Parts: sequence; C-alpha cells; structure tokens
Amino acid sequence: KKSKLFLGIESSCDETAAAIVAMDADGRGEIVSELVLSQLEEHAAFGGVVPEIAARAHVEAMDGLIAGALANADVSLSDLDGIAATIGPGLIGGLIVGAMSGKAIAYAAGKPFYGINHLEGHALTARLTNGVDFPFLMLLVSGGHTQIVLVKGVGQYERWGTTIDDALGEAFDKTAKLLGLGYPGGPQVEQAAKTGDPKRIPLPRPMKGEARLDFSFSGLKTAVRQAAEAMAPLGEQDIADICAAFQLAVADTLQDRIRRSLTRFTEEGLADGGPPSLVVAGGVAANGAIRDMLTGLCERQGFAFVAPPLRLCTDNAVMIAWAGLERVRAGLPADDMEIAVRSRWP
Ligand code: KG4
Ligand code: ZN
Repeated sequence: KKSKLFLGIESSCDETAAAIVAMDADGRGEIVSELVLSQLEEHAAFGGVVPEIAARAHVEAMDGLIAGALANADVSLSDLDGIAATIGPGLIGGLIVGAMSGKAIAYAAGKPFYGINHLEGHALTARLTNGVDFPFLMLLVSGGHTQIVLVKGVGQYERWGTTIDDALGEAFDKTAKLLGLGYPGGPQVEQAAKTGDPKRIPLPRPMKGEARLDFSFSGLKTAVRQAAEAMAPLGEQDIADICAAFQLAVADTLQDRIRRSLTRFTEEGLADGGPPSLVVAGGVAANGAIRDMLTGLCERQGFAFVAPPLRLCTDNAVMIAWAGLERVRAGLPADDMEIAVRSRWP
C-alpha cells in the first residue's frame, strides 16, 4: 500500500504558506516540503495585521509559494491525492486567495478539494509531529485565538473554553504597544520580563477560580495601562517590571484554567486509555514562562506535555495538508467546489 500525498495551502492571516505532506498506510506522516512567507514587515508599521494589505500580499506570493513547494518536493500535480486549503476562520480576503488557488488547481488537475478549518489544522498537528492519540486536550493561544479544545477525533471537537474578549497573543501585543515595545509584542514582552520584578505591580487574574473554562484579558490590559500611566515617565526597569507582572498574571490565569481542564478530562474518564496529552499550538506557545508552567502542571496531573516544533505551532500549510490527509484516513468525503470561505467558523 502506498502513501498519500497532499498539497496544503494557508492564507487566513498574515502568513502565506504551501506544503507537501505524505501519509503512509499506517497513518504516519512525513513533511516533504514546506514554505512560509510572513508578511510581518508589511504590517509592522501599523502595529497589527491590516486586512487589505494582507489580501494583496497573499495574491502576490501564493503562486510562487505553491510552485516552490511542488518543486522542492519534486512532485507534479498528477502525483497528488488531494489539495487542502484553509477556508476559515480568518480574514476573508486572504481566505479567498488560498481557497480559489486550491480549487483552481484541484479542478485543473482533476483532484479532490478539501476545505479545511484553520483551527482543525492546529488541533491535528501533534498527531503528525508526535503521533498523539485521540482523545487529547489542546490549548490554542495565538494572536487571533484562545481556546481549550477537547479533540476526540477527526471532525470531532468540543470547545471547553474560549476568550470572551481579547486573544492572548493580542493581549501581549497590546501590552507591548502600550509600553512602546515593537510588534509583534509577545517576544519583546517575554524578553523584557526577564529582568523585571513580577511582584512590584499587582495585577488582576481574570476568571481565576471560575468553574467555566473561559478566558478574559481586557481587564488585565486596562490594569496594565493604569499602572503604566501611574508610573509615567517609564524607565527601562519600570517597563521590565510591568512586563514581568503581566506575564505572571497571564501564566497564573492560564494555570488555573488548564488545571481545571485536566481535572475535567480525567473526571470524565477520557484519560482511561493511557497517559493523555495536553497539546499546545499558536504563537504564544513560544513563551518560555508559559511552557515551564504547563510542563510542571502536566507532570503533577499525569499528562504528557506536547509542544510541536514552533514553526508548526504558528501558522503554516503543513497542518492544512495534514488535516486533509486525516480526513481521508477517517473516511470523510472531499468538499464540493461550491464550498465557501467563512470569516467566522468556531
Ligand atoms: O500563531 P501566531 O504566529 O499567529 C496568529 O495569531 O495566527 O501567533 C502570533 C502571536 C502574536 O500575538 C505574538 O505576540 C505571540 O503570538 N507570541 C508570543 C511569543 N511569541 C509570539 N507571545 C508571548 N510570548 C512569546 N514568546
Ligand atoms: Zn493560527
């Protein structure tokens, strides 16, 4: 039995990406080629992603990236078993670019098309990189999403918690902007926090102690702004202290939410098949303090902490190709060419 080969396409936010991924008859994956082009510099001056700029940049980059991914893999269109493209959720202009490119190639080459939910791509990545078995728990923390998801199977997801306001990455970015640090803010806040005193400024722990597993970060953002205003003009040490306090407040909040999620997972009997996994995804998963906290938490509660390589935690096309392959393996059908992109798709 031979392996299957998929082209994956991603363009839902500010990364244009194409990848070729294979899955063998036993369901094991192999990344054959992968390309990601970040638009970071095009958006940096605006302190965030500008949808119109993003859509145009995707148009310019998409053809070259797909051709490059095929060439690097030494694969022609006729070798493919399917084409998978992100069709939501995300910025509508970018989604249209990726979905239309994928459909056009599928139509021209006579191959099945799979419209993939971007979040499903994030959710299934750890099965490719770490062979994680269902069911597992995923914490997705990126610039656009903050979710705790029970992954029961391909196409079977239960959202246990989400943010009621800002995404966690967004909270990092806004904090950085407020303190005059650059964009994206996460890495800069983490760096500054290293020399800061997290105890100097008291900050709230939003949602901590609440039974529902949701998040809220806008109150924390306001508290950071008020603290910064009270301390102005800010010296380097002040900035470091605020960053350290912010990061600790975030880690504490996450710890509370995840601790409850792991407990619920165990109480519902989901852990009975062997040591279960907590999988992280999203750019905020790069944060060392958050990783350390999660590692300790998992150890104490009998979970394996699984963090795919960072380039596969952030937006990429490997995860989209893989989600298509997983759908084939699960016996799920390809999509109709009429399937539409969707900016919102929980
Ligand atoms: O997954 P991602 O690359 O893109 C999407 O949002 O789709 O995530 C980017 C987010 C940004 O908000 C960025 O500030 C945050 O991840 N981030 C971090 C770190 N590195 C990136 N947040 C905290 N600590 C970091 N080291
Ligand atoms: Zn993403």
